[in-house]
Amino acid sequence: MASATNEALSPNPLLDGLSSERRAPPLVLVVFGASGDLASRKLFPALERLASRRQLPAAFSVVGVARTEMTDEEFRDLCRKAVSDAGPSWEGLVSGFRYVCGEYSDHPTFERLSQVLEEVDRDRGTGGNRVYYLATVPGVFAEVAEALAGHGLNRPSREGAFVRIVVEKPYGRDLASALELDDRLHKVFDEPQLYRIDHYLGKETVQNVLALRFANAIFEPVWDRRYVEHVQITVAEELGVGHRGGFYESAGALRDIVQNHVLQVLALTLIEPPATIDAKGIRDEKVKALRAVEIMTPDEVAANVVRGQYAPGWVEGEHVPGYREEEGVAPDSATETYVAMRLRVDNWRWAGVPFYVRTGKRLPKRVTEVAMQFREVPHLPFQRGQARGLGPNTLVLRIQPDEGITLRFGAKVPGQEFRVRSVSMDFSYGAAFLEEAPEAYERLLLDAMVGDPTLFIRADEVEQAWRVVEPLLEAWAEGRSPLVPYAAGTWGPPEADGLLAWDGHRWRTP
Ligand code: BG6
Repeated sequence: MASATNEALSPNPLLDGLSSERRAPPLVLVVFGASGDLASRKLFPALERLASRRQLPAAFSVVGVARTEMTDEEFRDLCRKAVSDAGPSWEGLVSGFRYVCGEYSDHPTFERLSQVLEEVDRDRGTGGNRVYYLATVPGVFAEVAEALAGHGLNRPSREGAFVRIVVEKPYGRDLASALELDDRLHKVFDEPQLYRIDHYLGKETVQNVLALRFANAIFEPVWDRRYVEHVQITVAEELGVGHRGGFYESAGALRDIVQNHVLQVLALTLIEPPATIDAKGIRDEKVKALRAVEIMTPDEVAANVVRGQYAPGWVEGEHVPGYREEEGVAPDSATETYVAMRLRVDNWRWAGVPFYVRTGKRLPKRVTEVAMQFREVPHLPFQRGQARGLGPNTLVLRIQPDEGITLRFGAKVPGQEFRVRSVSMDFSYGAAFLEEAPEAYERLLLDAMVGDPTLFIRADEVEQAWRVVEPLLEAWAEGRSPLVPYAAGTWGPPEADGLLAWDGHRWRTP
């Protein structure tokens, strides 16, 4: 039996990330939920781009599995339609794709899958290597994994082959269900075979937090409580829930964005420099960082968290409905579409520095950023008035859109008088690099195929992230925090301003 990937030996993503020499080995990608939204919107387009960059080998195929009745040819058509401007390599690849229709718990589905996989290995030379991708509803993740094991598909069928399984989010609904899911998955797959995906880690600019911090001598010395006054992390979306109302009703912003995307970005901002940027180095540090994030008491939840829901409003000159009027949403829904919180990080580096995080749908624009605001100078040697236009030094990591970094600092205003005001020094990804960055799913799919788990979430990380949000879920279930409305197209409920005003701070307007 072949061994699973050794995470300590995984390649260095900062060194090899964009290299066109990075290429998947021969394998079959089995997509569960192949007729669904995620597969068509993200996975197939990502595969097409990998194919056109020549990062997929000839010995590669996709087997789609889903409940929708389809022939192989109809599935191939679906894959073709998912990519609007496909290159010629895509057609060559798609013509070898296969499809298995059936229930996820049914014995015949997996019998058939097993047979199709053998045929593909024979026809395409994929060598028994498998990457399973769970793009189904989360309720069947464990069932599919168990059914794979029931047919011996969880282990390599031949010496030297590999079997991995990519698990989409949401990973559980709370700590208990995440632990239960881990338990069930660990009975049939070893942890190194498990690739828990959070597509934010696949974003170039999220990885750039690591480059900025650990490839430069000048930032890390000021990256702590002595110089940083506070940090704001914003994950704002302009869109509402659209046609995902049904799903969103059982998720809400806390489970959908905070537990995963926000805490991952926070963890990368907090971590200590790892000895090596590899799966073990990065993930060990992230767990340590997440363990330092305070676990709130119910009273602290009431004082440090604001939960909101969008009401009707105006976005880009268009009147948009409130959340409760969206398709699939209950007219009296208590699901939050906005969360703002003040977090404490109890460790040597960050003690006393407030971290304010916020996320919401139907905010004025789509923007994700980390903004570090630095302390004031100990003594300002100018007269009042001379520094009227001077604000605090701020370093903003713009994750999306307009990917880049801005540093705000004081400069002398030209002229006979001595006046100082804040100016910006700007780095823009688009202007600095000619290379086109891979999309998050493109990056992560290839990582799973080459066996690099650095940008995937380990079991202990996911558990710790649930521990951080668990008190909020409990307090809300007990009705301890009111759900406050905000008009669509605004920066959230006014109550969220109060969180910062308490410390004498204000939210940035990105
Ligand atoms: C997903 C959430 O994980 O991330 C969605 O389920 C959200 O609700 C999306 O819209 C945001 O991702 P991105 O890449 O557009 O910022």
